Amino acid sequence: MSVPEMGPFGVVVTGIVAIAIVYKLVQRWRFKLPPGPRPWPVVGNLLQIEPVRFRCFWDWSKKYGPIMSVWFGSTLNVVVSNTELAKEVLKEHDQQLADRPRSRSAEKFSRNGQDLIWADYGPHYVKVRKVCTLELFSPKRLEALRPIREDEVAAMVESIFNDCGKQEGIGKPLVVKRYLSGVAFNNITRPAFGKRFVNEEGKMDPQGVEFKEIVATGLKLGASLTMAEHIPYLRWMFPLEEGAFAKHGARRDNVTKAIMEEHTLARQTSGAKQHFVDALLTLQEKYDLSEDTIIGLLWDMITAGMDTTAITVEWAMAELVRNPRIQQKAQEEIDRVVGRDRVMNETDFPHLPYLQCITKEALRLHPPTPLMLPHKATQNVKIGGYDIPKGSNVHVNVWAIARDPAVWKDPVTFRPERFLEEDVDIKGHDYRLLPFGAGRRICPGAQLGINLVQSMLGHLLHHFVWAPPEGMQAEDIDLTENPGLVTFMAKPVQAIAIPRLPDHLYKRQPLN
Ligand code: HEM
Repeated sequence: MSVPEMGPFGVVVTGIVAIAIVYKLVQRWRFKLPPGPRPWPVVGNLLQIEPVRFRCFWDWSKKYGPIMSVWFGSTLNVVVSNTELAKEVLKEHDQQLADRPRSRSAEKFSRNGQDLIWADYGPHYVKVRKVCTLELFSPKRLEALRPIREDEVAAMVESIFNDCGKQEGIGKPLVVKRYLSGVAFNNITRPAFGKRFVNEEGKMDPQGVEFKEIVATGLKLGASLTMAEHIPYLRWMFPLEEGAFAKHGARRDNVTKAIMEEHTLARQTSGAKQHFVDALLTLQEKYDLSEDTIIGLLWDMITAGMDTTAITVEWAMAELVRNPRIQQKAQEEIDRVVGRDRVMNETDFPHLPYLQCITKEALRLHPPTPLMLPHKATQNVKIGGYDIPKGSNVHVNVWAIARDPAVWKDPVTFRPERFLEEDVDIKGHDYRLLPFGAGRRICPGAQLGINLVQSMLGHLLHHFVWAPPEGMQAEDIDLTENPGLVTFMAKPVQAIAIPRLPDHLYKRQPLN
C-alpha cells in the first residue's frame, strides 16, 4: 500500500508502531534480557499465552529456564520460577522492584495509586504501609476483632447445618463456595466497615446490596480492558468508558462516606471502636491521610482479603474431600483438643498442629494469587545475570516454586505431614513457600488471612464429615483452575456435609 492510499491516520499509526519496534530492538540489543518465547511485532507474546497463565509460564520455564522474558505487547514482563531467583527479586533487589504496574482501570480505582495495593514505592507507600502494620493489622487489633470472626464462622456453620438436608435426609450436595464467599464477605466488610450488612435471616440490607453491586461492577470494568492495555502507544485508539468508571467511583465514594459519617457520629456518643474505619478516621490527622486514601484503603481490604481467603478454603476442602484419611486425622486432632461438647475458637490454634499443616499445604499447592501481584522495576536491575530494564514488570511464579521437585518431595501430592517433618515458614522467610509474597510488599493481611482460613477449615472439619456427592468418586473431584489474577476452582467443589456434633453446637449466638 502506498502512503497516499494509507491516509494520514494509517501513516501516523504505522509511524508510531515503527518507532516502537525500533525502540524495542535497540533495547534488546543494549540489554542482556532473559530468554523467552519469540515475540511477535506489536502484540509480543500475548497471543501465545494460555488462559491459566501461571501454568503456561511454568511450561515455558521448562524450555526457557527459571527466568524468562514474556512480552505483553510492548511491555517486558520477567517471570521467575525458582527459589534462588525469587530471593533475588524479593530480598536482594526488593527495593528496586517494589513499584506496581497500573492498568488504566487500576489507575482509576486507586486514584493514581493513592491506596496501598496500587501505590508505587515512595513516601506515600511507606506511610500507608506503616498505618497498616502498626495500626490496622497490629496483633492487638486482630485480637480485638476476633469475636467478629468467630461469630461469622458460627453463622457459616449454622447455615450449612440448615441446608445439609438434616430434615429430609442427609445426602444433598452443597456448593461449598456459596458458604465460603458469604463468610468471607462478612469477615472482611464487618471489621473494615464496622457493619454487618446481612440480617439474622441472611437477608442483605440495601447498603450491602450496593456493596456487592459495586464489587461486581469493579470486576466487570477491570475485565473490560482490551489487549491494547499492554501497548501504551495504542491505548488512545481504545478509550476507556470514562462515564462508567466515574459512576463506579462516585457510587463507591458515596456509600463509603455515608458509613464514615455514621461512625463519626457514633464515636461522639460511644467512643472509638476497633473497626478499620474508626481507626483510619481517628488516625487521619496523625498520618495526614487524605479522604481518597482512607476510602482506597478500606476498599483494598475487600479487593485483597475477600476472594483470597474463600479460594484457599475451597481448594483445601476439595483436597480434604478427595483425602478422607487426612480429613479423619484432622477431626481426631480437633476432638482430642477441643472435644465434642464445645465449638473451637482461635485460641485453640496453637494446640492444633495438624490443622495448621493443612492450611499450609493448601496454600502451597493452591496459592490464590499464583503469580503474586506484579512488581515493577524503578531502575535497571540485574537478576540471575540478566538485565531487567527500568519500567519492566516482574512476576514471581510462587505456584511453580511451591511445586518445584528440586525443593519439594512428592510436590503434587497433598500431604500436610510434610510440615510436621519440617517446619517451613509461610510468611516470607522461606523462599520455597511464598503464598503471601515476601519483602517490603509482602501481604500485610497475612496473619489475618491465616486466622480466617484456619478458623473456617477447623469449624468445617469439627462440625461435619465431608463426602463426595453420591455416585462420584473422591478422585473424580476436578482440580482444574479458572484463569484470572486470583485462582478460583474452574468447577466449584460440591460435597455432602454430615453433622458430627450435638445439635445445639450448630446454633449461632449473635454478638450484641
Ligand atoms: C489467604 C489469604 C491471602 C493471601 C494468600 C494473600 C496474598 C497476597 C499476595 C501474594 C500479595 C502480593 C504481595 C506482593 O506483591 O509481593 C498480597 C498483597 C496484599 N494483601 Fe494479601 N493475601 C491474603 C489475604 C489478605 C487479607 C485478609 C488482607 C486484608 C484484609 C490482605 C491485604 C493485602 C493488601 C492490602 C496487599 C497489598 C500490599 C502492598 O501492595 O503493599 N490480604 N496478598
